[in-house]
Amino acid sequence: MNDRGLFDALRRFDEEYIPFPPFVAAAKMIEDNLALYRETGIAQHLLILGESGTGKSSLCSWITQKYQRFSLPDREILPVLYAAVPPAATIASMVELMLERLGDPSPTTGTASSKTARLILLCRACRVELVLLDEAQHIHDRGLATTHYMVGDWLKSLIDQIGIPTVFLGLPRLEQLLQVNEQLRRRFSRRIRLALGQSDTESIHNECLQLFISLGACLPLPLSSGIYGWDELGTRLYYASDGRVSYIKKLLACALKRSLEAQEGEIGPAILERAFTDELWWEGIGKLNPFNPAFEFRQLDRRNEPFERSSPGAGRGWGKPKC
Ligand SMILES: Nc1ncnc2c1ncn2[C@@H]1O[C@H](COP(=O)(O)OP(=O)(O)OP(=O)(O)O)[C@@H](O)[C@H]1O
Ligand SMILES: [Mg+2]
Repeated sequence: MNDRGLFDALRRFDEEYIPFPPFVAAAKMIEDNLALYRETGIAQHLLILGESGTGKSSLCSWITQKYQRFSLPDREILPVLYAAVPPAATIASMVELMLERLGDPSPTTGTASSKTARLILLCRACRVELVLLDEAQHIHDRGLATTHYMVGDWLKSLIDQIGIPTVFLGLPRLEQLLQVNEQLRRRFSRRIRLALGQSDTESIHNECLQLFISLGACLPLPLSSGIYGWDELGTRLYYASDGRVSYIKKLLACALKRSLEAQEGEIGPAILERAFTDELWWEGIGKLNPFNPAFEFRQLDRRNEPFERSSPGAGRGWGKPKC
């Protein structure tokens, strides 16, 4: 395969959506809320939490692609309003971003309340039926508790006034925002974690393996479990990826390049071992590399390791191996 072929294969691989169980469950909950709203006008809200690389933004893209904007002779119809909350979000930055998305010609003009009033009118005019607020942990990241209340309260009031199902997506620490703001907490009482490891019937290792196999099916080379066998490869994949789709994808993309360079006919543990060091953690060698025979079979989440948790307790208590 030449460079062009490799780039095409990588692009196709990057664009492919795999319906892995938590992704499907989250998409279904969003679509159920949309269907309920369309049928009854009832707006139910949803909180989707997931560590970095678990697929939150991809889920938003999938939904916005499915319910695309279209034009009528007199207006644009935007069934889904998507916005990624900017770092250190303020009421002004949020309202302006949403106005811009809705095609407002001068989103920065006016006072906070006049901009909010315009936003509500535009949501109605564009027939918005679903609001997706990605990176919602940035609302919390603003800092002082009083500011949490200000942005949180503005959002609560906006959500009530537009009366449209709203989804907050963000890192697990987003839950702290809801701890601060009781009224938001009540509105977002329905929560889902976008993470492997929640199945009653499958171990997280097996879920990782299934995801690896599904993603691998999009590549032009076959996968091999080599000396380990598929069960053990699944366990090693879990430690190599922390059960996150983005890391499994990175491993596979790098392994494909490496396999083609080395003119290997398959993607197996030796190539994955190199891909882990190249792509995920340059210090991951020997017993610290999940694909090395000497690997010590533990989570790589200690200090300066690739899956070190950013805040105490974040992401703990779920996504654990079930063996
Ligand atoms: N269902 C899926 N099928 C295939 N690839 C996916 C899927 N979901 C996510 N990915 C891939 O995983 C990677 C990370 O996804 P994404 O950016 O959506 O994660 P995130 O949870 O938004 O991360 P962050 O919190 O860092 O923004 C992307 O390369 C994306 O293509
Ligand atoms: Mg994201």
